[in-house]
Order: sequence, then structure tokens, then C-alpha cells
Amino acid sequence: MNAKIQNDLSKKFSKGTIAIHWLTALLILILFPLGKYMTGLEPAEKMGLIKIHAVFGIIIFILTIIRSWLFFKAPRPADLKTDSKINDKLAVWIHNAFYFLLFGIAISGIATMVLGGYGEALSSGNSELIINREEILPLKGHGIMALILMLLFAMHVIGVIKHRIVMKENTLKRVL
Ligand code: HEM
Repeated sequence: MNAKIQNDLSKKFSKGTIAIHWLTALLILILFPLGKYMTGLEPAEKMGLIKIHAVFGIIIFILTIIRSWLFFKAPRPADLKTDSKINDKLAVWIHNAFYFLLFGIAISGIATMVLGGYGEALSSGNSELIINREEILPLKGHGIMALILMLLFAMHVIGVIKHRIVMKENTLKRVL
């Protein structure tokens, strides 16, 4: 990669976008391990955790709706450039994929709550109303999309580190 290209890092994202960016990152880092942990528990053991998972997940859903609105309405700095067009396209593709995945994960999570009997189990306090996880189709999609999200999350972080080391640019300035 050519270290000569320098991006203008004085231009930042809007305050709302920055706040949502970090809050979403934090919630994802809680929700993914929590989701995986719940997988190994019996229904009766995980009622409280499901409630926390669903509430945090719905907060991410609402934040993603607001962030999508800001994407079109609030001024955004130009996309970062390197001397590799493929690299630049990949970065934009990953950023856009986050929005679609977060919507997909939230909607499949809500569908799991409804179709998997979680909603009824929580409102009645009867964990036996939760059906066998193998029979809950949206839960499969939920797990797969959450895994893809974490892979892209890792690539996103690697991209920041790569900019820092190879191009000597602290791209985090745009979201601080
Ligand atoms: C970014 C947001 C979210 C992430 C990263 C996430 C992640 C996960 C993961 C990794 C699992 C385990 C999947 C598996 O077993 O393969 C899971 C399970 C689950 N999630 Fe989410 N989730 C999110 C949002 C939501 C939302 C919004 C809801 C519902 C309102 C929800 C409801 C559930 C339910 C009901 C389960 C099944 C728990 C079980 O019985 O083990 N999730 N989630």
C-alpha cells in the first residue's frame, strides 16, 4: 500500500452518528457472547438473560434506524482512500453490510421471540413454552447473521489498525 495518500481526518461524522457507533459496538460485544452463552442453557435457566438480550437487541434496532436516517440526512466525511481500489470498495461494502446485518439480526431476533414461544414464556413465566431450538427457523438465520457480523467486525478493526500502521493515519479521529 502506498503511504503517500493522506486522507483529511479533520472532517468528522456527526455527533449522533459517533454516539450511536460506539454504543452499538459496545452492545454487540455484550450481545454476541451472551447469545452464544444462552445456547448452552436450559430454558428455565435463561429466562432473565433472554429478557436482557432482547432489550439490548431492541435498543440496537432503534439506534440502527436512527443511524440509517442520519446516514442520508447528516453530513458525512468522504470515504477513506488508499492506493488499492479493492481495499477502498471492501471498506465501504463492510460499512454498508453492518446496517443490513443489524436489521436482519434484529428482525430475526424478534421473529424468534414470537415464533419460538419466548414472548409467551416471558409474559407467563413458564419456560416450557419455549419450543425446541432446532424447530425455530429464524433462530438459525439470527445465529448465522450474528456470526457474519462478528467476522466483519474483526475486519473493520483490522482495517483501522492497518491504516494506523501502514498509512500512519489515525482514522479513529473521525469517530471521536
Ligand atoms: C446486534 C444484535 C444481536 C446480536 C449480536 C445477537 C446475537 C445472538 C447470538 C449469537 C445468539 C445465539 C445464536 C445461536 O444459538 O446460534 C442469539 C440468540 C438469540 N437472540 Fe439474539 N442477538 C441480537 C439481537 C437480538 C434481538 C433484537 C432479539 C429479540 C428481540 C434477540 C433474541 C434472541 C433470542 C430469543 C435468542 C435465542 C436464545 C436461546 O434460546 O438460546 N436477539 N443472539
